[in-house]
Amino acid sequence: MLLVAAGSQTTVASPLADTPPIGTAVVGYGYWGPNLVRNVIERPELEMRVMCDTDPVRRHACERRHPGLATVTEFDRVLDDPSIDAVLVATAPRTHHALVRRALLAGKHVLVEKPMARTTAEARDLITAARNAGRVLMPGHTFIYSPAVRLVGELIRDGVVGDVYFVTSSRMNLGKYQNDGVLCDLAPHDLSILFSWLDQCPVRVSASGCSVYRSDVAETAFMTVGFAEGATANIQVSWLAPRKVRQMVVVGSRRMVVYDDTASDEPVRIYDRGMDFGPPPANFGEYQLTYRTGEVVIPRVEPAEPLSLELADFAHAIVTGAQPQSHAELGLEVVGVLEAAETSVARHGAPVALPHLASATRDAVAG
Ligand SMILES: NC(=O)c1ccc[n+]([C@@H]2O[C@H](COP(=O)([O-])OP(=O)(O)OC[C@H]3O[C@@H](n4cnc5c(N)ncnc54)[C@H](O)[C@@H]3O)[C@@H](O)[C@H]2O)c1
Repeated sequence: MLLVAAGSQTTVASPLADTPPIGTAVVGYGYWGPNLVRNVIERPELEMRVMCDTDPVRRHACERRHPGLATVTEFDRVLDDPSIDAVLVATAPRTHHALVRRALLAGKHVLVEKPMARTTAEARDLITAARNAGRVLMPGHTFIYSPAVRLVGELIRDGVVGDVYFVTSSRMNLGKYQNDGVLCDLAPHDLSILFSWLDQCPVRVSASGCSVYRSDVAETAFMTVGFAEGATANIQVSWLAPRKVRQMVVVGSRRMVVYDDTASDEPVRIYDRGMDFGPPPANFGEYQLTYRTGEVVIPRVEPAEPLSLELADFAHAIVTGAQPQSHAELGLEVVGVLEAAETSVARHGAPVALPHLASATRDAVAG
C-alpha cells in the first residue's frame, strides 16, 4: 500500500472582504437548522439576524444555545424585515415550495435545503420566480462541497479512473424517520454527488422500496439510474441499518475508487485493479483475460466543513452574480430523478424514462 500526500483541490470562494455582511435569516431549527445557524455565525460574509421556527420549543432551544439571537415564529416577520437579504430554509421538503416562493417574491436570496422541492413542476416554478426577481436560488447540496467528493470528481475528470462503468452507493443508518420517505431524505446526497462526478445525462430510473412502519413511506429504497453514455449507478438508502454506512465505489476502465465518508482521516482510496481483456482471438482460441491487482493509493484530503464552503459560495453568488456550484438546475435535476424514482416504486420497480432536465448541470457543478 502506497501513501501519497496529494491534497484535494477544493474551490473555496474567498471571503468578500470589502462587502458588508449579508443579513441572514434561518427558517427551521429542527435537526439541520442548528448547523446552518452555527455556520452563518462563523462565516464573515454573512450576519445572522433572526431564526424563525413555528415551534416555540425549537425557538427556545435556539435562544438557549445562542443568547441574544432574535427568534420569531411568524415567517412574515422575516419577509418584512428589510435588513434581511438572504433566507436559508431548513424545514421539511413538502413546505419548501411555498416558503421559498414567498421569500423570492419578497426580494430575498434563498438557499433551500435539499431537495429543493417535491416535484419538477414546483422546482421549475421556483427557478422562474428567482429569475424574475433577479435573486439567487440555491439548493443545499452540501456534499458536493466535501473535499473528498471534489477529489474523486477530479480523478474522474483527469482520466485517472478511465471510462466509468458503474457507481454503487450505500447510505444507511438507524436514521431519523421523516414523512417524506427515505428516497426524498437521503438520495439527494447520492444524486448530487453523482451529477458532480459524471459528465453524463441520466435517462432512466427504476426503484423499489421497503415499508415496515407505514405502507406509504419507505424506510429503505434501492434505485438504479441509467445514463445516456452507458454508466449505471446503483443507490441504496435506508433508515433501518445497524450501523452508519456512507460509501460510494466508482469502477472505471483504469482504476477503482472507494469514497467512504465515515473514514474521516482517509476517505478516498484509489485501487489499480480490474480485468483486462486481450484482443479477440484470430481463430477459435479463447479471449485473453488478465486480472490487474496493483497498488492502492490513499491521497491526503484536507479537512474542511462542506456546509461552511457551501455558505461561502452562496454569499459569493449573491455579491458577484456568479452561479453557485450547487445551482438551481442541479436542484431541478435531483428533484426530477427523485420524482421518477417514486413513480417507479409505485409501479413495483418498472423503469421510468427521464426527460432531459438540465443540460448545463454537470459542467457547472464540476466548477
Ligand atoms: N444538507 C444536509 O446535509 C442536510 C442534512 C439533514 C437535513 N437536511 C434537510 O434540511 C431540511 C430540514 O430537515 P430536518 O431534519 O432538520 O427537519 P426537522 O423536521 O427536524 O426540522 C424542521 C423544523 O422546521 C420547523 N418548521 C416547519 N414549518 C415551518 C414554517 N412554516 N416556518 C418556520 N419553521 C417551520 C419545524 O418546527 C422544525 O423545527 C430538509 O429539507 C432536509 O432534507 C439537509
